[in-house]
Amino acid sequence: MQPTQIRAWVSEVRASSNGAFQLNLWIPDPAPLRDRKSEKTIRTFLSRFGPEPGPEAGDATPPDFEAQCEAILETRPLAVSSVMGLFPAAYVARLRAAGIAWFATVTTLAEAKAAEVAGADVLIAQGAEAGGHRGAFDAALAERQQVGLFALLPAIADSASVPVAAAGGIADARGIAAALILGASAVQIGTGFLRTPEACIHPAWAQALGDAAPEDAVLSRAFSGRTGRSLSTGYVRAALSPDAPAPAPYPVQRGLTAAMRAEAQRQGDVERMQAWAGQAAALARPEPASDLVTRLWEEARRLIS
Ligand SMILES: Cc1cc2nc3c(=O)[nH]c(=O)nc-3n(C[C@H](O)[C@H](O)[C@H](O)COP(=O)(O)O)c2cc1C
Repeated sequence: MQPTQIRAWVSEVRASSNGAFQLNLWIPDPAPLRDRKSEKTIRTFLSRFGPEPGPEAGDATPPDFEAQCEAILETRPLAVSSVMGLFPAAYVARLRAAGIAWFATVTTLAEAKAAEVAGADVLIAQGAEAGGHRGAFDAALAERQQVGLFALLPAIADSASVPVAAAGGIADARGIAAALILGASAVQIGTGFLRTPEACIHPAWAQALGDAAPEDAVLSRAFSGRTGRSLSTGYVRAALSPDAPAPAPYPVQRGLTAAMRAEAQRQGDVERMQAWAGQAAALARPEPASDLVTRLWEEARRLIS
């Protein structure tokens, strides 16, 4: 979100909640190396799935990180979480002075140690099962260092002196109870909320989540250039095939796929949508979010006791 959107979102949420919300920021990667020739090949490939992207499509840039950081400090959330890296030391000090807790997403033990040294108040251990983008600090290692939550969580819990939240493949009470037993203090659920009415995703995507086997949620760089787990749709399968062009780096690939994603959304075609999904997608229930949270926590407490 742009800083103005962050401020507007916070006002809206604050006005209709108890104010205990968390904001999330992506830590930017170094500027991508552009390769116009391979981008042309990708644009031609993408024209099989939607409108052919124009030559300028890869130029789209994410919002200014420092301006986002300032907007977040100004809006004073209870917590701010990071993904794909660490906040600069000076910003961590300002968060601390403002009494804002920092939840750092990590995908390996080495990242967890680095985040704790940098001052994280909570570590979010994101297992490779997770839906959406992987939080790997180094984009190049996101596929090579895929650690499942069952191995990652106890390793981090044994090493860390701050609380650990578990993320990845948790969508029911059994998963919550297992994570707490493995050393988590809390869990973070993503895909498990996607079928709630509050998530407002396209019905075709919601339906496909309910039908997905664990192996149907696959890792690729096909949508943004950063590794993420989505449903294995027609576009993703084609993009992963050996004869497909390698995706451009983030955020170039995101710009290149924007037209296809928008058209898929308009036409309700899940085969070309950015249909993020974790490996436990089929456990997601179409139920109001507050009912889901209450039910999951009650069931998990019963299992643990
Ligand atoms: C649709 C979707 C969007 C996501 N967007 C973000 C994001 O912007 N920032 C972030 O830190 N994590 C994001 N995540 C990852 C979640 O924070 C979490 O790690 C993940 O959903 C946990 O795995 P699960 O999907 O199996 O529950 C996203 C996940 C999904 C499914």
